[in-house]
Amino acid sequence: MKVATVILAAGLGTRMKSSTPKVLHKICGKPVIQYVADAVLKLKSAHNIIVISPNAEDIEDALKKYNVTFSRQNEPKGTGDALKSAVRKLKGFDGTLLVLNGDTPLISPATLQNFLKLHRQNKNDLSLISFAMEGSHSYGRIIREGGRLKAIVEDKDADEEQKKIREVNSGIYAINSDLTGLLKEIIINNKKGEYYLTDIISIASKRGHKVGAYMLGNETELAGINSREELHKAGIYMRDRIVSKCMDNGVSFIDSSSVFISPDAKIGSDTIIYPNVHIEGRTVIGKNCIVYPNTRIISSKIGNNVVIKDSTVIEDSSVKDSAVIGPFAHIRPGSLIKASAKIGNFVEIKRSVIGECTKASHLTYIGDAEIGSNVNIGAGTITCNYDGNKKNKTTIENDVFIGSDSQIIAPVKIGRGAYIGAGSTITRDVPSMSLAVSRTEQKNIDSWAIKRQKSKVRRQKTDNKEDR
Ligand code: UD1
Ligand code: MG
Repeated sequence: MKVATVILAAGLGTRMKSSTPKVLHKICGKPVIQYVADAVLKLKSAHNIIVISPNAEDIEDALKKYNVTFSRQNEPKGTGDALKSAVRKLKGFDGTLLVLNGDTPLISPATLQNFLKLHRQNKNDLSLISFAMEGSHSYGRIIREGGRLKAIVEDKDADEEQKKIREVNSGIYAINSDLTGLLKEIIINNKKGEYYLTDIISIASKRGHKVGAYMLGNETELAGINSREELHKAGIYMRDRIVSKCMDNGVSFIDSSSVFISPDAKIGSDTIIYPNVHIEGRTVIGKNCIVYPNTRIISSKIGNNVVIKDSTVIEDSSVKDSAVIGPFAHIRPGSLIKASAKIGNFVEIKRSVIGECTKASHLTYIGDAEIGSNVNIGAGTITCNYDGNKKNKTTIENDVFIGSDSQIIAPVKIGRGAYIGAGSTITRDVPSMSLAVSRTEQKNIDSWAIKRQKSKVRRQKTDNKEDR
């Protein structure tokens, strides 16, 4: 059976009360639409179409790495109209359309596969996934007659009796391509004034087509995200799902309710995650690491036995085995911190390489620098990489000692084993094994303080006389 998938992701998403399209709101740092696209692309279907509004470049942007075709729905006239716009892209396609709402991020590929199997096995023309839902909600109710699927009634249009029906529509359908002509028969006959895709059920059923609804997933997996509250709930559920998976893989959490981990992140065994840690993007953390509280790691690669102390930010960088980072460190994009290096309190590193066993322990800025191994960067050192026009490179070779409060004015190179005296401003290359000092020489004036004291006492006596 050939399958073409269609994700409906146009429309206003008014219930979110947001200027951001609904499907771009994020769950654990990842847009809702990417979850749906990830699930769908695992099916390896012949075509993957995503229906978006005109000017939805931001959605296209969020999916630029996905192998999908976009179809534009000119006006948000409802889910029936949205599917019609996708069908125009599928001229000549003969097979099954798997149609999903773009606001159902927790759907698993396994559920979709089971669903397609049931659709095929039962030789249906049209199938949908339903699930059980209690209490008040906005899902469409499944209307059955003698157990057979007959129609869907939207919550807004349902009467009191219909509202009591527990079986609801997930918004996931399998539709044989020869039924797509029925979309033309959908008319606006509802309170919302839209073309409802759900009406295709009653139309197909009346025409004698074989239709079926299968209760497959649960209310969590099939939850549609229409409001901030639903987004929040899905976020919590996804967080718990990810944390459980991490725990299965041997990761410990001190307080899992306060951490957020991207679904695309990987964490090795015996790593301990403290409260309020955010791990975003495709971050990989190795084995036996400790990540202390209030830390954010974005799209970075962390080796084994790394300690990341409190309140640290690491972005698009790589930290090798046994390095120690923080507290209060900022590793900015493009940095490589090699094995056993130490980046301490209030140290900022930008697009730099820090060699093995090198230490920058306090109050330092290192930008556009290449620093060798076993280098000691004293407190308050600054690589002055920006000349007001362009960024310049600092090279510091192995075994260099940089005294505290030094400014290294790039472009400049400090040769292997050299020393920089504390408080120096280095403007020229420093040869290997030499000492560079650029501060004025110290002068000690003997008994200066005693003379100062005496003159102060004399002044006071004169003043007192004048006052009388
Ligand atoms: C829809 C179903 C409802 C089902 C629920 C499951 C209809 C009429 N109702 O309701 O039976 O229980 O999903 O979550 O289909 N969209 C477009 N173009 C539009 C309107 C919407 O592409 O003109 C897209 C949206 O981006 C969204 C999806 O279609 O991803 C569903 O639309 P939404 O407004 O969320 O429908 P629900 O009210 O949730
Ligand atoms: Mg919805």
